[in-house]
Amino acid sequence: MRTPAFHPRRWVVAAASVLLLLLGALVLSAQIDMTGYWAFRVKDGGVNYFQLQQTGGTIASVPQAGRGGRGGTLSGTLRDGKLHLVTTFNAPAPAPPRETVYDGVVENANRIAVTMQATGRDSLKGTFERVTREEAFPARLPLPELRDVPDNGLARTPPMGWNSWNKFQDVFDDATVRRMADAMVSSGMSKAGYTYIVVDEGWTSGRDAGGNIVGNGKFPDMKALAAYVHSKGLKIGIYSSPGPQSCSGKMGGGYQGSYGHEEQDARTFADWGYDYLKYDWCSAGGIYASTREEEQGAYQKMGDALLKTGRPMVYSLCQYGAADVWKWGAKTGGNLWRTTFDIGDRWESMERIGFAQIDIAGYAQPGHWNDPDMLEVGNGGMTADEYRTHMSLWCMLSAPLMAGNDLRAMTDETKSILMNPDAIAIDQDRAPKPVQRLSQQGKSEVLLRPLSGNAFAVGLFNRGDQPAEVGFRLDALKFDTGLYGFRRLQMQDLWKHEPVEVSGDTYTATVPKHGVVLLRVSIASGRGGF
Ligand code: GLA
Repeated sequence: MRTPAFHPRRWVVAAASVLLLLLGALVLSAQIDMTGYWAFRVKDGGVNYFQLQQTGGTIASVPQAGRGGRGGTLSGTLRDGKLHLVTTFNAPAPAPPRETVYDGVVENANRIAVTMQATGRDSLKGTFERVTREEAFPARLPLPELRDVPDNGLARTPPMGWNSWNKFQDVFDDATVRRMADAMVSSGMSKAGYTYIVVDEGWTSGRDAGGNIVGNGKFPDMKALAAYVHSKGLKIGIYSSPGPQSCSGKMGGGYQGSYGHEEQDARTFADWGYDYLKYDWCSAGGIYASTREEEQGAYQKMGDALLKTGRPMVYSLCQYGAADVWKWGAKTGGNLWRTTFDIGDRWESMERIGFAQIDIAGYAQPGHWNDPDMLEVGNGGMTADEYRTHMSLWCMLSAPLMAGNDLRAMTDETKSILMNPDAIAIDQDRAPKPVQRLSQQGKSEVLLRPLSGNAFAVGLFNRGDQPAEVGFRLDALKFDTGLYGFRRLQMQDLWKHEPVEVSGDTYTATVPKHGVVLLRVSIASGRGGF
């Protein structure tokens, strides 16, 4: 075999050509025109789509005609192969607009390596990639004619479980979910009634060649994950959107939604063994109009698809209470529907959401529940009194109880709140009458809920910043006293876990700032009066 001879001239020519090619690429890249459609992608994260218009070195966005969204701005420059883009996003008031800065280096006409920095977040590395208009902004598909989806027979009492979003947003993985399932059992939460482990936004990467939705590097095998959770005696939930993308968490953008693949995704979720779907409106707002007809149609489409799989799956609607969803959520096959924008781990957020639910409480019924969003108990942003108010209020409302904390690291106090059997019994009580407001005085509120077994739950709430005396008249509780008239009342404090002395016509307690006294009142055996 001959070894090739070393020819210095050939090497110089070769090196020069490579250099020329590199220079050419540099010049080309410096000159690319970004006008068109682009996706910003993060590995195992989300995707953001843009339609850009380049004029000289200036980049602007092209507003999408007729598309919803909360609005924002985009502007930037592309000079000497360097991209600098700034986008703002109008967060719900009172939060200021959020800014995201993308700084990139052009690799070729269709790809730019980018570092993204969003206000208050860690920076992320990703790429801008040129995509087709259809990928970036798919055309609107027709919705089905409205009709009532048959009841799936599930969730006869408000669903209980855990959801990843409040604690982790989209920064979590398969192992995190498995450890939550372990902790759900070892902490006693499953014994207390918590059953569903729900994987919220962040598990998808896109679709395979057959259009099947697939997990990302953090969730390589969604079927195996379901099998693991089932092996713990629990049920498992998954998350998608009627839009092409989900809402976007911390990891760069939205994730794959079920738009145009509703039946296929429902079948996949069923094949994988999922028991629950949270279906979040998100980018559907850029496809459909925000009317009751359109929202109902989009949710009905998935409701039908779930039913068609033959697998029992709880259907959780999440469209933030738009178009009075409590009036039609059940028609789409929904077992629960969010009634509000997202909860935050702050007293003001929880208080505003919780106390606004009383007037619509009557729309909840077995199998179809108002959902004032997941619990924040144990996440650290509220005092123990505030978390007790949170839990008491949700239980009085018959709200789904979806814990949103890290189940591996619960203090005894957190456990005592989430696993209070007496509070949970109120939540799960099957008496059909909803909670009502008995009285409201200044910042004090008394809520009443008839329970089965001739009993009442009474919540004495103090929304004020100082301790307050809060009370109610005992004859406001309309007991079924049968033939024999009034008997002696029996009252239990459900947070102190002790009986309360009742005498006279009223009961008054000192309630701490932002706190609650939660009572169960029933008729004691033996005769007597008030
Ligand atoms: C919306 C929902 C949240 C959560 C996030 C995920 O904001 O209301 O519960 O699912 O999307 O991005």
